[in-house]
Amino acid sequence: AQTQSLTKEDVVKEDDPSNNVSDAIFSKLGINLHHRPNHPLCILKEAIYEYFEGREPGKFQKFDKEPPVVTVKANFDEVLVPANHISRSYNDTYYVNKETVLRCHTSAHQAQKLREGHSHFLLTGDVYRRDAIDATHYPVFHQMEGVKVFSNDEWVDAGLSSVNYIEKDLKECLEGLARHLFGDVQMRWCDCYFPFTDPSFELEIFFNGKWLEVLGCGVMERQILRNTGRPDDRAWAFGLGLERLAMVLFDIPDIRLFWTDDKRFTEQFSAGELRQKFKPFSKYPPCYKDIAFWVNDHFTENNFCELVRGEAGDLVEEVQLIDEFTNKKTGRTSNCFRITYRSMERSLTNEEIDAIQEKVREQTASKLKVELR
Ligand code: PHE
Repeated sequence: AQTQSLTKEDVVKEDDPSNNVSDAIFSKLGINLHHRPNHPLCILKEAIYEYFEGREPGKFQKFDKEPPVVTVKANFDEVLVPANHISRSYNDTYYVNKETVLRCHTSAHQAQKLREGHSHFLLTGDVYRRDAIDATHYPVFHQMEGVKVFSNDEWVDAGLSSVNYIEKDLKECLEGLARHLFGDVQMRWCDCYFPFTDPSFELEIFFNGKWLEVLGCGVMERQILRNTGRPDDRAWAFGLGLERLAMVLFDIPDIRLFWTDDKRFTEQFSAGELRQKFKPFSKYPPCYKDIAFWVNDHFTENNFCELVRGEAGDLVEEVQLIDEFTNKKTGRTSNCFRITYRSMERSLTNEEIDAIQEKVREQTASKLKVELR
């Protein structure tokens, strides 16, 4: 059930210098892993739907086909992300051009759906973030956004302020969701900050001996409701990362596995079964390559990782800063990164990795303008 992929030509007008989206990233648009019925991400999505259906039958409308190319306005402004917030930077977010991004969260659709008049919805989609590379980070992942709007002063009857009433409903709802997914687990609420909610919380559960962050949520900023023409309404919202939860639920050790077509992975899961555990197949050996260079003022690890990903695709498993020092006399700083190459599907040959590493070296020198050592 693969919907047609959007190409770079569909979204980038001309060779726009304000585009920082590589072809490797563009190739992910339209793949929609969360639409494949036997895929762990889809199984999890359906399990969350099932919970909400059981709790408030027929209430929550489901959206999972909103395209990931959105305006800066939708992704940031309409959810009140401040002008100077780091998430807006070219280092963290994929810009197609100055006004258009690949959404970095499903919150990008809150205002649009509220304006359309929706009051209960679950919205799932692929989201994109420039980031480091390791077993739990991939530049594309999936989120589900949940929004519930309250009106008619229902909090008055309960004798609570609107904020307390909504916070209580939110916490009960999400604790129930965590139990639906993870069973009878220990949970805790942590205060945190999001520009679009106040108060804001993170839910953590104790699972496999560790505290795991499950989701972010909070009482929606009233400004968002006012701006969408709903000044008398109140609401809560949450956002959760499907990969993070699926990795824990199904024992999936590497985030790249979600993207593999290897039957030894894909055939282990079936629709409706949340309690299956992934049986790892033998891993192919890794291949390590180090690269060292003198950095300049513009250098960032995200930019370097993006470049490595551009050359190596899914063959890169991890990029790790293993050494950093500053020469006292010249004031110059050297970084040494260890790149771990490994395929999920086959043995790599030394020659092919040497060829990729050579390209990485060339590109690092020419694009990032650093001096190789
Ligand atoms: N958008 C937030 C994130 O990506 C999650 C969130 C959604 C938090 C809605 C609160 C309310 O981290």
